[in-house]
Amino acid sequence: MKRSKITIREIRDAKTESRKLVMVTAYDYAFGLMADEAGVDMALVGDSLGMVVMGLENTVAVTMDDMIHHIRAVVQGCRNALVVGDMPFMSYNISIEQAVENAGRLIKEGGCDAVKLEGGVDFADTAARIVRAGIPVRGHIGLTPQTATSLGGFKMQGKDAEAARAIIDDARALEAAGVFSMVIEAVPAPLGKLVAETVSVPVIGIGAGPDVDGQVLVTHDMVGLFDRFVPKFVKQYAKIRPTIIEAIKAYGDDVKTGAFPAAEHSFSMPEETVAVLKKNLGDENEAE
Ligand code: KIV
Repeated sequence: MKRSKITIREIRDAKTESRKLVMVTAYDYAFGLMADEAGVDMALVGDSLGMVVMGLENTVAVTMDDMIHHIRAVVQGCRNALVVGDMPFMSYNISIEQAVENAGRLIKEGGCDAVKLEGGVDFADTAARIVRAGIPVRGHIGLTPQTATSLGGFKMQGKDAEAARAIIDDARALEAAGVFSMVIEAVPAPLGKLVAETVSVPVIGIGAGPDVDGQVLVTHDMVGLFDRFVPKFVKQYAKIRPTIIEAIKAYGDDVKTGAFPAAEHSFSMPEETVAVLKKNLGDENEAE
């Protein structure tokens, strides 16, 4: 069945219709296309690309140019899925003007449908101004990887009542700022549920339990493509890394033994043409 581009309104309506939203990350055309064919609602070009694609220790060094480059590729693959692009660290933290300008770049140069930024109460004004500029914004609360160092590392957030209450305040501030949805990462499941019940916009969980309005996973974690670690909240639906390594090894063996390329992988030339070519070369050699 032919589907059409999912709209922000449909994402918001999913919550009232109690329809769970599905989001995965994508960083290039091939994965954008596969996510789209699999029927996800949204593809997130996350700044997690710093870790799973660029091999960096964290997401801090990812730049606007990195994001635009990858967003452009994913957008080519996503005919139906809404594409959300992450605002990288320090692209919205200096001033509201800077944030609006960079959100505009992700939309205009990258071609994504919406942007995501990390932070709650402290970034609600920023989110509100981007929304007022006509750009759909998704928030990100709980564990915010760009500032994980200040949060004590990549650890569960909102453990005690005070910390949990602060996360609920973050969610409320973002809702009031006009975000169309928000990600909540690495919080206890009962807190995920409370946040989803508290705000009217869809709350997409990653390590926030089942009682939220949708889920997101980093695709490279979910399909077993990332080599370093698998977070507790990830379910691995495939392990494609060993399959790819085996395929590359087999190719290497074939190259060494001469089994590749075979006749079916090679372009032929008529015998007569080869003969003429050889004669020409022979004549040239004699003349020298
Ligand atoms: O960058 C990313 O992939 C994310 C997800 C973890 C939600 O922000």
